Amino acid sequence: MIHYQRGTHGIDAGWLDGYFVGWSDPPSPERHLKILNGSSIAILAIDDEHRRVAGFITAITDGSLAAYIPLLEVLPEYQGRGIGSELVRRMLAELDGYYMIDVSCDADVQPFYARFGLHPWTAMIHRGRIDSTPVLKKGGRG
Ligand SMILES: CC(C)(COP(=O)(O)OP(=O)(O)OC[C@H]1O[C@@H](n2cnc3c(N)ncnc32)[C@H](O)[C@@H]1OP(=O)(O)O)[C@@H](O)C(=O)NCCC(=O)NCCS
Repeated sequence: MIHYQRGTHGIDAGWLDGYFVGWSDPPSPERHLKILNGSSIAILAIDDEHRRVAGFITAITDGSLAAYIPLLEVLPEYQGRGIGSELVRRMLAELDGYYMIDVSCDADVQPFYARFGLHPWTAMIHRGRIDSTPVLKKGGRG
């Protein structure tokens, strides 16, 4: 049985094993817990029987107009059971009325988000450690 909750009440890092599949340098479970606690909104799908978080979604928001959903993940063994959809539904309900709800995702996940009314857009992003020096030099102002 999976139950859903907002926030990390009753959860410690031991419940967060196995996340960030495919990342070259995945955050530790301890850092994951910090990420959940530092997010404006974190919703967890919890498998109480096995003392595991089966999936989670986070949002960073100004509390009024704009929100960004940086992370959504369901552990591989829990995928395909509707957990990811339920997490997105619950997050969008939390963000009801917001003008901007942004998600950055790989192209193969776009059809998943499209089911909830989101649509493809263009964006500028950065991942990893930023180094703005070459850009400033190119512009001639650095
Ligand atoms: C994307 C993800 C969260 C979906 O979670 P899930 O619990 O398996 O999703 P659901 O069971 O609710 O699936 C709902 C539907 O979306 C489809 N779907 C799931 N992942 C999909 C994907 N990557 N692309 C397209 N469709 C997808 C499912 O096939 C299912 O279709 P159905 O209802 O016709 O059977 C999960 O696959 C995951 O954690 N992936 C790795 C991390 C990731 O890509 N996160 C998103 C980054 S922003």
